[in-house]
Amino acid sequence: MQLINGFSRLSRAEKLDWLKKQAGLSSSTMKMLDDHLHRDGRTQEIYGDLSENTVSNFYLPLSLAPNFLINGEPMTLPMVTEESSVVAAASKSAKFWAANGGFHTSVKGHFKAGQVHFTWSGQQDELYKVFEHNRERMVQSVRSLTHRMEQRGGGVSSMEIRSTGPGLPGTFNLFVHFRTADAMGANFINSVLEALALQLSQIMAESGSKGELDILMSILSNYTPESMVQCYVEGEIEIFEEMGGGFSPIQFAQRFSKAVDIANRDPYRAVTHNKGIFNGMDAVIMATGNDFRAVEACGHAYASREGSYRSLTSVEWSEEAFRLTLEVPLAVGTVGGLTGSHPLAAASLEILGRPSADELMQVVAAAGLATHFSAVRELITSGIQQGHMKMHLGNILRQLDASKRESEIARHYFSSRTVSYSEVASYLDSLRQQQNKEE
Ligand code: MEV
Repeated sequence: MQLINGFSRLSRAEKLDWLKKQAGLSSSTMKMLDDHLHRDGRTQEIYGDLSENTVSNFYLPLSLAPNFLINGEPMTLPMVTEESSVVAAASKSAKFWAANGGFHTSVKGHFKAGQVHFTWSGQQDELYKVFEHNRERMVQSVRSLTHRMEQRGGGVSSMEIRSTGPGLPGTFNLFVHFRTADAMGANFINSVLEALALQLSQIMAESGSKGELDILMSILSNYTPESMVQCYVEGEIEIFEEMGGGFSPIQFAQRFSKAVDIANRDPYRAVTHNKGIFNGMDAVIMATGNDFRAVEACGHAYASREGSYRSLTSVEWSEEAFRLTLEVPLAVGTVGGLTGSHPLAAASLEILGRPSADELMQVVAAAGLATHFSAVRELITSGIQQGHMKMHLGNILRQLDASKRESEIARHYFSSRTVSYSEVASYLDSLRQQQNKEE
């Protein structure tokens, strides 16, 4: 492939023309790119404008997970995921826990953070002294940017200068806590930080202190341990009577607890264990137009806060009762950004009853705990492949254009056999040959 200048300035047709020549795409692939455009021109413009150099849309399913009971309120969760078992896992768990009190959630803190990173060549004491003396001036200097957010209950909550660490002498950051009401607030935070950076430079220059202040960067932090959500499910141990897959309720609780203990000690297991939580969380984050990369990065950093990567869930159990808890930092928004501009993100928020950011945090956590519970339950009882393979079989049958009747027969045949693409293809072939003979 050749390098190209000014690609972004080409029209869609010109981009595709170039691509066709470069990659030798078949006409059926070119047609597919066209076929995946939205039939309504205005809607296509909205999707196209979400990114740069857009030539088509990449579909992912928007699914519904019903039967969630969250703090006593029944809810249906919109989920966007490409992993076929995730929505089934969430729904199964939701139904089970709805019959046992549902998900109990709460938000602990709503603070987001941002930093202005800089170097200061003068005396450290002098820097702190001048900053303290001018703190109010700093706050006032960004009032024009914060004043509308303040009306919605947000704004700058606190500000301090921190030394960045012993390994980086002369390197500091202005650490700012924000409240952003129902917005994710990334643009708000970054604009305020850049204005504060200018103000800090000016204050130090005017102070007459000996030393140079050099601003390196101003940016929000996606690590939000001051914006935490907790979600738990609990019940008497007997509730596991039916679902222990041959294990007694006590054995089930013991095995579940052991699985969490292992994730607390072995990062190889912990990453997969937590991935099962993010399966549910990300699906709701995606459906509501929030930033799943930020949520993931934050959650994984939090899982490592004690120096090694550990489980985000914990279990307490006795011979009478069981409780599974998820605690995770989360920063989400329900106004502004993609939440309003992506038509289906807006639809997802409507499905959820137009939640506040705090309410959405709790829904996301419930989704994560739901998929996690189902995953670990399967792992410690029947094994993961049984359920996965059922979904996988469905996908293979679809790919092979199996009719409804063929699918039913194949599902029955593979209920006690190992599923693989080639096995299913050859079984379907023999089934079709037999059918042809009979006709
Ligand atoms: C698969 O997407 C998720 C699981 O691997 C999670 C887990 O192992 O706990 C099943």
